[in-house]
Amino acid sequence: MDNQKTFYITTPIYYPSGKFHIGSAYTTCLCDTLKRYKTQMGYDTRFLTGTDEHGLKIQESAKALGKTPLEHVDYIAGLAQDLWKSLAIENDDFIRTTQPRHERVVKDIFEQLLAQDDIYLGEYKGHYCMQDEAYFTETQLVDGHLCPDCGRETEIVAEETYFLRMSKYADRLLAFIDEHPDFIQPETRKNEVVQFVKSGLQDLSVSRTTFDWGIPVPSNPKHVIYVWIDALSNYISALGYDSKEDALFQKYWIKGDEVVHVIGKDILRFHAIYWPIMLFALGVPVNFKLFVHGWYVMKDGKMSKSRGNVIYPEQLTAAYGLDAFRYFIVKELPYGNDGLFTPEDYVTRFNTDLVNDLGNLVSRTISMVNKYFGGTVSNVTADHPLAVYPQELAALSQTVFENYQKYMDEFKVSNALFEVSRLVARTNKLIDETSPWDLAKDPAQKTMLEMTMYHLLEAIRLATILYLPVLIETPVKIFDELAVQEEFRNFSAYEFGKKATYTVTEKPIHLFPRLDVEKETAYIQSLMNAGKPKKKEVVSKPEIGIEIFEQNNLLVGLVKSAKVHPNASKLLILQIDTGDKVRQVVSGIAEFYQPDVLVGKKLIVVANLKPVKLRGELSEGMILCGETEQHALYIIEANQNLEPGDNVR
Ligand code: ME8
Repeated sequence: MDNQKTFYITTPIYYPSGKFHIGSAYTTCLCDTLKRYKTQMGYDTRFLTGTDEHGLKIQESAKALGKTPLEHVDYIAGLAQDLWKSLAIENDDFIRTTQPRHERVVKDIFEQLLAQDDIYLGEYKGHYCMQDEAYFTETQLVDGHLCPDCGRETEIVAEETYFLRMSKYADRLLAFIDEHPDFIQPETRKNEVVQFVKSGLQDLSVSRTTFDWGIPVPSNPKHVIYVWIDALSNYISALGYDSKEDALFQKYWIKGDEVVHVIGKDILRFHAIYWPIMLFALGVPVNFKLFVHGWYVMKDGKMSKSRGNVIYPEQLTAAYGLDAFRYFIVKELPYGNDGLFTPEDYVTRFNTDLVNDLGNLVSRTISMVNKYFGGTVSNVTADHPLAVYPQELAALSQTVFENYQKYMDEFKVSNALFEVSRLVARTNKLIDETSPWDLAKDPAQKTMLEMTMYHLLEAIRLATILYLPVLIETPVKIFDELAVQEEFRNFSAYEFGKKATYTVTEKPIHLFPRLDVEKETAYIQSLMNAGKPKKKEVVSKPEIGIEIFEQNNLLVGLVKSAKVHPNASKLLILQIDTGDKVRQVVSGIAEFYQPDVLVGKKLIVVANLKPVKLRGELSEGMILCGETEQHALYIIEANQNLEPGDNVR
């Protein structure tokens, strides 16, 4: 189909900071729902997600785990892909910023902007937040020293750095926002951005020299490219921008009809300011919309491991199924705002929407159709005073579909699902209004009874169609029970009366088991508590007198040379000057230190340890290290004022 409209939707690329909690899963489930919706609406869709794998934080967490950064991100990118698969996420691509297809594009982008003088070399001194990898101006700091985003202590950092000329594009950005009223949704977020830009844009520091886990600047490789320049480029590098094979970029971006970046409120500034300015400078059209959602928060605030209030998607799907999770997660967060996650709400929403309203409706209807009509009914019209009710239901189904589309197109997925709930509730009400059990007592009312049954079935079919973007397993079960042919199972068959007859299964299945609110609430709460960090187990040993401690001969030592043990890859052989002599020490730290890094370091040596041979090499002492909970070893370094041979006591 040549005239088929296109729809390109992206999640942010996730930081590989560990397991993904329900907050990260929200963005992805929301995008998946919108993609499935647009596909049903006849669009040619493309959905991108991925992982954001560079930066100091990642370098440091890898080190703490005793891994190389690449080993660490490989592992987490694997976790992410497994999780998305288990949540039935239909992404068409998964980009990792360590992939050559991405790194090449980022290098080209940087060099192009440098050649154009949109990027220039300068020096930066400012308040830097290690956690957020961002500088803040004094006025932005909380209490003059804390990061306004995460509340952590900032540090004054001075470095040679490249800058992107943001200020040059500020007016163009404001004009763009003005001319494209739906560029940033919801409106309140747009206002935030406009205010920020109007308060004055500083040129942005876009390179770092303080760490090396990033994409080097090709013309000056001691700099790595700022993680946000790197990360934001993923949205086009994944489409083959700046390569010979750029058909996807041409189709979905340049000639595309709709491009949507779905993001959380915390990364608004990067997407609404830095990204369009990068595109302006590159000469690439800014043709995307931003949909900015709020956060799932817990009763005691932000979800975090240290608070012990984290819940993981796989815990909920294992206990209550995939559909319940997808349904809850996209329905419960109100448009554009934060929403509270509570175990009670999860269980209650399950019981009301899925068990009582949908599940019950389906099983009651199937039972009645079997009981009164031997399982088969047709679309008949009764001349009966009660006929107004099924007619009302048929009319409502049309309004619901219209509202549903309007909401989905505005990214108001929660509202769209409330429309479906309205249809389901109205259908349930039809049973009360017509009292089929009374109609069944009088043969003269048979047509009215059949009309009612048919309307119940047809409304169930239509509601099920509208659940297709969200629910995965349930629609198949319902359609199968109602023997709905393939051609009546999609949006193009959404029309009351389109399927003329039904022959239903003899025995309805239980779609969703009713949950015991108290028991299940307590269960979910226990999952959350289990994530609380346990009190650290600190080694305890029997007391000793000072005279025993003093038997240790602890000396400051200076590492003169270091190499990997020829017969043991986990051991390093160090030559250490301890004042009295240069002694050889064999140490099990090869996994945590490159030999070169240790040369010139001052550390602490237990000098009177009985010499031993370790894999054939003499070791005359031991160096002191600290061990993390993850069993990574760090050497204890001596103060620079101390000299080899100084006594440690
Ligand atoms: O920001 N509720 O990655 P990220 C809802 N790598 N959404 C939440 C949430 C919560 N409790 N917690 C996090 C990054 N999110 C960058 C993106 S894109 C070029 C680079 C959302 O893993 C958060 O708002 O920290 C963000 O949209 C997404 O998860 C990824 O966050």
